[in-house]
Amino acid sequence: MLDTVSWELPDGTSVREYSDNLVGQSGKLRIIDQTRLPSTLTYLELDELDAIIDAIKRLAVRGAPAIGCAAALGLAAVCRRFPADTPNDAFISQMRTTADRLATARPTAVNLTWALNRCVKTILKVSPSSTKTLRDILLEEALNILAEDIQLCRTIGQHGAELITPGMGILTHCNAGALATGDYGTALAPLYVAHEHGVKFTVFSDETRPLLQGARLTAWELARAGIEVLSICDNMAAQVMKEGRVQLVLVGADRIAANGDAANKIGTYGLAVLASFHRIPCYIAAPYSTFDFSLDNGSAIPIEQRDANEIRRCGNIQTVPDQAAVYNPAFDVTPADLISGFITNKGIIRQPYQQNLKSMVNHV
Ligand code: MRU
Repeated sequence: MLDTVSWELPDGTSVREYSDNLVGQSGKLRIIDQTRLPSTLTYLELDELDAIIDAIKRLAVRGAPAIGCAAALGLAAVCRRFPADTPNDAFISQMRTTADRLATARPTAVNLTWALNRCVKTILKVSPSSTKTLRDILLEEALNILAEDIQLCRTIGQHGAELITPGMGILTHCNAGALATGDYGTALAPLYVAHEHGVKFTVFSDETRPLLQGARLTAWELARAGIEVLSICDNMAAQVMKEGRVQLVLVGADRIAANGDAANKIGTYGLAVLASFHRIPCYIAAPYSTFDFSLDNGSAIPIEQRDANEIRRCGNIQTVPDQAAVYNPAFDVTPADLISGFITNKGIIRQPYQQNLKSMVNHV
């Protein structure tokens, strides 16, 4: 699978080979630069705050769980440069400022603040008599978040694989795969698990304008894994459903409210409406870290507005005249009623969501 987000150790080993005796050495956040896919697979190694914020903002690393992992490891990378041999107020104050700035990088995916809050809370709980440095404790917690995310995705994959039957057509939107998480993905995890079990199916991958995460990233990672994938333009989804070629819609989420309303990449709501019309089940796959129980419903989910140039141009080609205005919300909210179920690390959760999603609350 892919090392989307990892910790670069001086000798080049990644988190997979990480062990206790390597904590304390200098290192950096290491990410795939997703803006360059599918033509070039290249990595960025970062330990400067502005560069990490910029990487998250311009979607070099993207996808809710991957943003959370990158922010946690980024916080650890930046904070390794602060002096902190013992618990001390100056370190804590610099760490808080760094975490607050990282939290502003993108507003919709709750995993970003969830991961940063978890790291900050861990440091605030450290006893004054601790023999470990705060820097090392922070790095350990960030690596725990990454390792946990990989495990959560795997569990989601195992639960969701029950829905995949031989010969099925599965439509997905944006990228909720290995590139969007620590590994395996959320919506794509059930496909990887079913594929490992020898089940044959076809994935319809929505292109996902304006930034083409479906065409550039989902098609790339599925084809690389040997899974049959057909790229389609976003406006073809209704037609392939009408042709009877889609039996399941499977997408990820950036934030899910207590009642089950779910924010995901712009276009997901439209797909859910189409799926309902064609009587095709529509599932959302997400780990507990994507649920925001502080919000009663989706109306309070902050929706990121992005630069007009993402719509004005496609690559180097101008697609909108200069005189025309542009509206570019990056996400929409699918009402809970259109969602057939949530594939989570706790299993598949169905209506009534208000009651049943509570099993997520006390995970850690
Ligand atoms: O703007 P992006 O590319 O970060 O949007 C990503 C999505 O909408 C994903 O579907 C979502 O984050 C789930 S990723 C497992």
